[in-house]
Amino acid sequence: MYLGIDLGTSGVKALLIDDAQTVIGSASGAMDVSRPHPGWSEQNPADWIRATEEAIAGLKAAHPAELAAVKGIGLSGQMHGATLLDSKDQVLRPCILWNDTRSHKQALALDADPQFRALTGNIVFPGFTAPKLAWVAENEPDIFDKVDWVLLPKDYLRLWLTGEHISEMSDSAGTSWLDTGKRAWSESLLDATGLTESHMPSLVEGTEPGGTLKAGLAAKWGMGANVVVAGGAGDNAASACGMGTVGEGHAFVSLGTSGVLFAANASYLPNPASAVHAFCHALPNTWHQMGVILSATDALNWHAGITGKSAADLTVELGDSLNAPSGVTFLPYLSGERTPHNDAAIRGVFAGLGHESSRVVLTQAVLEGVSFALRDSLEALRAAGTNLSRVTAIGGGSRSRYWLKSIATALDLPVDVPADGDFGAAFGAARLGLVAATKANPLSVFTAPATAETVQPDASLRGAYEDAYHRYRRLYPAIRNAY
Ligand code: XUL
Repeated sequence: MYLGIDLGTSGVKALLIDDAQTVIGSASGAMDVSRPHPGWSEQNPADWIRATEEAIAGLKAAHPAELAAVKGIGLSGQMHGATLLDSKDQVLRPCILWNDTRSHKQALALDADPQFRALTGNIVFPGFTAPKLAWVAENEPDIFDKVDWVLLPKDYLRLWLTGEHISEMSDSAGTSWLDTGKRAWSESLLDATGLTESHMPSLVEGTEPGGTLKAGLAAKWGMGANVVVAGGAGDNAASACGMGTVGEGHAFVSLGTSGVLFAANASYLPNPASAVHAFCHALPNTWHQMGVILSATDALNWHAGITGKSAADLTVELGDSLNAPSGVTFLPYLSGERTPHNDAAIRGVFAGLGHESSRVVLTQAVLEGVSFALRDSLEALRAAGTNLSRVTAIGGGSRSRYWLKSIATALDLPVDVPADGDFGAAFGAARLGLVAATKANPLSVFTAPATAETVQPDASLRGAYEDAYHRYRRLYPAIRNAY
């Protein structure tokens, strides 16, 4: 048995698989995000532990014998968060999360130093870790002085699980301190934010062992000795391991809190100019590119919140057959945007409203806005040399047929829907746990799920979608100039 633990933004999911990779069961624990000021997004690391305990207790209640047989654990997590610890591993302040944009000035300053793009292969985005440390140094110097360790969220969970300060390549590539081509910390990038390698965890590949479960926790969960904890991965690379997105040309679109268009690469292909992310994958000698939009299901959930409906009710109300874009355009920039604009200050907008603009029309515009944002990511990947012929859809939002059709039509690509099953980040993490514990060949483990169905672009609406996409493209510069 192998256990995958995915530390997401809205909760922790724990999932058990057996040696044949059959999912035995899963359980979750929920968490909130605190937004004390506009653009801020924080969580208390103690909540991650509470939610993990809750998820594992849920698994233990349903599958005690299987949980007791776990030999390997894999970790996946929301990327980029800055978890700051003192010399006694005490948390110094709430973790500043991936969708927190407070450090946009510091990000701009670091990005102006050419070594950052040259070594990391990425823009220094405000959501990445290094500018957060620069913000803390400027705004909370007493805290900065006490920082002994900087850990990514899932690596803080690993510290609690194993007592070790360890990270792996895929998540570390999102810090702005990793030499992404060399897969090693860069002393000079760390130095530019007043840190040294001693502040950073040691690095393993995602498929390698990265600690052993502490005896106390093993006893509590009924497990034996020497349970291996794999290096694991950032949640997008972990999802890719779950989906078998590990070979050149394979790609997925993820509709979670954030939206991601992810492509696996056999070599390191950076192109910061297109705001594409170029990161290490969770397997050795493999990299990936992705376009990231900050609000995907988050945009629909926001709309649900203000209309007093659930996201599911809103999509049901819209029906399943794709409509032509109505003329109402929605920019989903509720927390600013990464790909393609790298703009922390921009905010969302509804444009083109009329008396006839009902709730249903606005729901349609929200889904289309996210589809067009993903089209922007597709163009960014193209500019970085990656041409996709199809994508597989994952994440909570992919349960909406309407959204899948809208994405297929906006991208003008077939969208494959995996056969029923759970192929997300927690499953990928469990696979990483299996590989680390058994030394199996990752490529024979990270296979793709069967495709239940392929959603094709709607040829009759392609022209209308293209017009609407160009209208969408024209709005960003207009809005930016207006503010
Ligand atoms: C990726 C990113 C998000 C988070 C969400 O760069 O910021 O996808 O990993 O958990």
